Amino acid sequence: MKYKHKPKGSLLAALDVGTSKIACFIAQVIDDEGTFEVLGVGNYVSDGVKGGTMADIGAAEAAIRNTVHAAENMAANVMKGYPLREVVVNLPGLHAMSHGHTADVNISGHEITDNDVRRALMKAQDKVLSNEYELIHTVPIGYCIDGHDGIREPCGMFGQNMSVDIHMVTGNMGALRNMSSAIERSHLDITAFCTSAYAAGLASLVEDEMDLGCTVIDMGGGVTSFAVFLGGNMIFSDAIPLGGQHVTNDIAKGLTTSLVDAERLKALYGSAMGSNSDEGELIDVPRLGEEGHHEPNHIPRSLLIGIIQPRIEEIFELVRARFGDSGLGQAIGRRVVLTGGASQIPGLRDLGQHVLDKQVRLGRPIRLSGLPDAVAGPAFATIAGLLTYASERTDEMPAEIMSQVEPGTLLERTRMWLKENW
Ligand SMILES: Nc1ncnc2c1ncn2[C@@H]1O[C@H](COP(=O)(O)OP(=O)(O)OP(=O)(O)O)[C@@H](O)[C@H]1O
Ligand SMILES: [Mg+2]
Repeated sequence: MKYKHKPKGSLLAALDVGTSKIACFIAQVIDDEGTFEVLGVGNYVSDGVKGGTMADIGAAEAAIRNTVHAAENMAANVMKGYPLREVVVNLPGLHAMSHGHTADVNISGHEITDNDVRRALMKAQDKVLSNEYELIHTVPIGYCIDGHDGIREPCGMFGQNMSVDIHMVTGNMGALRNMSSAIERSHLDITAFCTSAYAAGLASLVEDEMDLGCTVIDMGGGVTSFAVFLGGNMIFSDAIPLGGQHVTNDIAKGLTTSLVDAERLKALYGSAMGSNSDEGELIDVPRLGEEGHHEPNHIPRSLLIGIIQPRIEEIFELVRARFGDSGLGQAIGRRVVLTGGASQIPGLRDLGQHVLDKQVRLGRPIRLSGLPDAVAGPAFATIAGLLTYASERTDEMPAEIMSQVEPGTLLERTRMWLKENW
């Protein structure tokens, strides 16, 4: 797949509506290679979103508006007083579904053109379109011409028959509608959705990892989603409805303390793997509802770790089971990159390595420089990747073509575009 970068001077904007936080980045392309620089950042505690699902559209809308305003204000010099118009938005992993298909088209000996590739993509798209699911990504991942496979770029070649392996991602229509509704009330037009883990991979994997085979696991507050990359493309994605907030809840319940204290204890003393020294180390746990009035409980740190470890093990075991269900076998590769806010817990890499039986490293956005520390960590991998997606990959969804037809909401335009073109 050839990627066309947005031209120098273009504005890029992305919005990640997560379970724990909402982030908005505004960037500008600064050279002819597609390099971009972040000019505005908004980052607020999320509201009205549970496990990547809208639970209260009004609350989410207000949180989104505040976040976008903060980013606009910071980028005011470049925005010249104009409000932000267009954003690329994350599609939470729980609402995305991955489909692998192979489509055959007849070439009859002529030179293969973009049009033949589009014919194959259309054929595959037909198989997954329905009233309940919207097509989000269509990624050709490999071509075979007259029995010769492993072809990456078929245009210009000759043959009788071409088959294309295609990875498509569809999004749950209801979830997309709710998300669109919360965002469009802020007068923003959604130019594309991009699956969270795909974006996290675009931000945190080096090119060799994407080429040779690597899985990125994005551990967020309410969702752990993952995407498998091979040959430079995403070939599979999936998600499980557990994340860092479940760990925090377990701590609050297990130690009878407030969620705020549980979150603090997790960040300060938490670990995914125990060690011999934890037994003797005592930590203070404020008692629920009695803060400031009573002495806190003193508990061994090993008790805290004993709560965290099984939950994270469960998350990795579920991910491993999904690897098995994917049918990808060896294609899944030996390498895993862990990112997302919840990946910051010490010991996570070792536990992941042990349960998944893969080489694991920790990842954070690597393609953005000059960001303030507060928004440069692993929790910002998805939003950073949404900018990369906005800058070079939006043609993996029909939005580019849709933008040439009548304006309107994304869903209306998708419908219209499908009606006119398919
Ligand atoms: N230093 C830290 N140590 C351990 N966990 C942390 C740390 N900092 C943040 N977290 C956890 O990261 C989680 C939030 O991660 P992130 O910001 O990636 O979530 P999100 O994108 O809002 O949610 P989701 O993607 O699930 O919708 C929270 O559960 C939080 O407890
Ligand atoms: Mg997230």
